[in-house]
Amino acid sequence: MNAVLVKKRILVGVTGGIAAYKAAELVSLLCASGATVTVVLTEAACQFIRPLTFKALSGNEVYTGLFEGHDPLPHITAAKENDLLVVYPATANFIGHTAAGLATDLLTTTVLGFKGPVVISPSMNSRMFDNAAVQQNLARLQEYGYVIIPPESGRLACGEVGQGRLPSPGAVLEVIRGALVPKDLKGLKFLVTAGPTREPLDPVRYVSNRSSGKMGYALARAARDRGAQVVLINGPTSLDKPPGVSCVGVRTALEMRDAALEYFEAADVVIMCAAVSDYRAKFPSPNKVKKGSEEIVLEFIKNPDILEELGRLKRHQLLVGFAAEDDNILEHARRKLEAKNLDMVVANLIAQEGAGFEADTNIVKVLFRDGRFLELPRMDKYEVAQRLMDMVLDMRRV
Ligand code: PMT
Repeated sequence: MNAVLVKKRILVGVTGGIAAYKAAELVSLLCASGATVTVVLTEAACQFIRPLTFKALSGNEVYTGLFEGHDPLPHITAAKENDLLVVYPATANFIGHTAAGLATDLLTTTVLGFKGPVVISPSMNSRMFDNAAVQQNLARLQEYGYVIIPPESGRLACGEVGQGRLPSPGAVLEVIRGALVPKDLKGLKFLVTAGPTREPLDPVRYVSNRSSGKMGYALARAARDRGAQVVLINGPTSLDKPPGVSCVGVRTALEMRDAALEYFEAADVVIMCAAVSDYRAKFPSPNKVKKGSEEIVLEFIKNPDILEELGRLKRHQLLVGFAAEDDNILEHARRKLEAKNLDMVVANLIAQEGAGFEADTNIVKVLFRDGRFLELPRMDKYEVAQRLMDMVLDMRRV
């Protein structure tokens, strides 16, 4: 389940493109996230995928025409009863009609009457996508306030390579989620750090930790979705850069420190989620160390504590730290809160199943300066991030 999507009513419009089959997975994902889904298929879409597929997946009636079924005004009912409309895939024909304000079938008619967020995910051959008229129509839709998801580049159904591929249902689900959350962090600048740092031993070896970056990236996405401007300083991860976030890639703790200091002054809220290496090799070898003696001894020196330094520099910023703990959680986290002059510390219960490093979910306790603490149950990292955004907002209001 996904708190943002639970009980939300989503109208999915499917138009007639070869990628229409992907809409089945989107409907399935939306339903699994707790949304109620209704599907509208254009006549052309029915050539690619049957209404029965969507009826079975959504458990709801599927609409295909203006003059079918018992409802004399299906377009108005659909427009009134849903929180968000997503068109996936959207053909050049649909885009052209909608940009011109034409109501030629149930879907285009419904779009005209829809007051909530409308997300449009174009997909077509790259020659069509590059066409000046299509580009102009998309620009016009964006101007009208529709959320346009750019198609991806890659191998297209016809065998050509170019921009026109429909993004994955998971990527579209993220955009839908973003379009539904309130924009209550608009005007705020966030600085978030994520992932591990890598401290070199020689040109091919390093010391690091198991941080995947998932928690920090989720924080950046949650802040972006709520309207904030976000700079994400990320150590090496295998995650895709979140669209709409300014990403600054770093490798070592020293590089992360430099980047954090550069963006700190302009930030209103700083969330330090990165797992920064506490030590680095004192003498990293300029050449690959050769296999030789039975034992080698490495000497390490302490890295600067970035958060502690930011705590000393803090003026207008709200400063949030993370604390990865496996014992005496509250006690250790409180000590970090005080030592680093934090406003809030998120204690991560890393010894628990489904929490901490690499997991998709997390379990945290949040401590505040005034001694209060809150405990969150196990949740998806994006949900944890959303709850932390609520707390940040509350603290800014005080
Ligand atoms: O990336 P994931 O796989 O999703 O995992 C998420 C996470 C477990 C890494 C994350 O939730 C987390 O707990 N991050 C903080 C990990 C950590 O380094 O904790 P710490 O207790 O060692 O450090 C306390 C705070 O000081 C942290 O905010 C850390 O970013 C900061 N710090 C630490 C050392 C250092 N040299 N400079 C710092 O700024």
